[in-house]
Amino acid sequence: MRMHEIMGRAYESGIVVPAFNVPYLPMIEPVCRALVEADSFGLIAVARLEWIKFESRSQEAVATEYAKHKSDAHTGLHQDHVPVIDEDGLSVDYLADIRRALELGFDSVMIDGSRLPLDGNIEATRRVCEAAAEFGVPVEGELGAVMGHEADGIPDYETLFETGQGFTDPGEARRFVGETGVSWLSVAVGSVHGAISAATKNQPKVRARLNIDHLQAIREATGIPLVLHGGSGIQTDDLLASFRSGIAKINIATDIRQPYERARERSVGEAQEAVHRSVIEIVDRLGIAGSAKGMC
Ligand code: 13P
Repeated sequence: MRMHEIMGRAYESGIVVPAFNVPYLPMIEPVCRALVEADSFGLIAVARLEWIKFESRSQEAVATEYAKHKSDAHTGLHQDHVPVIDEDGLSVDYLADIRRALELGFDSVMIDGSRLPLDGNIEATRRVCEAAAEFGVPVEGELGAVMGHEADGIPDYETLFETGQGFTDPGEARRFVGETGVSWLSVAVGSVHGAISAATKNQPKVRARLNIDHLQAIREATGIPLVLHGGSGIQTDDLLASFRSGIAKINIATDIRQPYERARERSVGEAQEAVHRSVIEIVDRLGIAGSAKGMC
């Protein structure tokens, strides 16, 4: 129940909840520490690809490490992207991964059916909502295409933005929310995920923009908290405007993974300090220092 309430408050007051992805287990400690120090509320998030393609090992390993460092007033544990079809085009036993997260006590879960046609996405998301209801845990779905995780990368960014390629359709979003009962919706309005393929994962991210008018149309159509994926490297003015236009959660991976990977060549301890510094900077940029007060 707790995350339903926290996100409801964030949505109503225009304060964002950051979800920090942890592709490496030692990242959990500095993210939790920084959130406590800044007195901000945020989520530790792990996507399926982070235990398959990176080093977070398993949902069990993440839950165990999280339990050592969590703070009930400042942190929650989120299951990020469990795709129905993964970034390599393979089918995933998504209900098994979601059920494991629920049984391990994750506070919220995400099902990503965005590579399916609308009807299939609705069906998969509805099944996950049924499973999560038994645990009282909110479900995030995704509609539209937030690109970048695929091995062939993204099309030219300016063309993507100008043409609105893959953007979430407000009418479809209304139907999706009504027929699935999803709690939060990840939308495509200009952001892209940081690349994860070996050849590109160290490169700087494109400086993405957001179409705020389009976001507002989705907000009016849905009336539920919206989620911004691809949160690293977005222009700050657009970010702050999006929090006033329905975005209640932002996912951040590249902006903490790259400093970790660079410093890890020296030591894990230095890499953890690099993550801590990055989280403090991000919390400042998002304007959420002190946000834990009144959230929990
Ligand atoms: P970035 O890597 O762009 O921060 O995206 C993170 C994300 O959306 C994870 O779900």
